[in-house]
Amino acid sequence: MAALLEIRNLHFAYTAAEPLLQGLNLQITAGDRLGIIGDNGCGKTTLLLLCAGVLSPQQGSIHCCGHPVVAGQFQPQLGVVLQNPADQLIGATVAEDVAFGPQNLGVPPAAVHRQVAEALAATQTTHLAQRVPHQLSGGEKRMVAIAGILAMRPHVILYDEPTAFLDRRSCQALTAFLQQNETPGMIISHDVPFLQSVCTQIMALEAGQLRPLAL
Ligand SMILES: Nc1ncnc2c1ncn2[C@@H]1O[C@H](COP(=O)(O)OP(=O)(O)OP(=O)(O)O)[C@@H](O)[C@H]1O
Ligand SMILES: [Mg+2]
Repeated sequence: MAALLEIRNLHFAYTAAEPLLQGLNLQITAGDRLGIIGDNGCGKTTLLLLCAGVLSPQQGSIHCCGHPVVAGQFQPQLGVVLQNPADQLIGATVAEDVAFGPQNLGVPPAAVHRQVAEALAATQTTHLAQRVPHQLSGGEKRMVAIAGILAMRPHVILYDEPTAFLDRRSCQALTAFLQQNETPGMIISHDVPFLQSVCTQIMALEAGQLRPLAL
């Protein structure tokens, strides 16, 4: 089966003196959702930014849905939920915000409307459609940010610490969403029980490489 996300021999350092990712390999195929844990500063967000084409590796390759990830080029197949949802909410209303992605992909208006409605329903944020994004609570912002990604119908979704700043009830809502939404991908988190409840496999990022987590 073709990999949806495939990383081979990935090397990356912000400065030559401090190598961060050192020959990292990873494969995500249909049905896989990989949980990633690791110490603060070990390179988890950096890995996600490399997959998203925000950063460029010094060595190695990243392919998404069979296409090489090229830094600076948008990849509609890959959705990224950033660590801070405020970094990806830009619309004047929630509905406009969630519509932004599919509109920019050239989706016809009627289909944009349908995709927005479906994304809001999936994340249980339909009642927030006319609200101003920056006035939402942290948990509401998180779910709206996810809706904005879902509306683009990506084949793979990467989440960077999605439970950060969420209370128990919001965590439960996010967990329920992730258990019901089967889009493959990767979830970075420090919360191992959360990862166990929503991932098919958990790995630890240590010394620049991924290793299966011994639980
Ligand atoms: N733009 C940058 N320039 C230089 N160093 C950076 C840059 N961005 C991150 N770093 C450093 O690279 C290392 C890895 O950062 P990264 O954000 O990937 O860690 P992380 O594993 O996501 O940590 P956390 O669990 O705290 O989110 C850290 O030491 C960080 O200070
Ligand atoms: Mg991080």
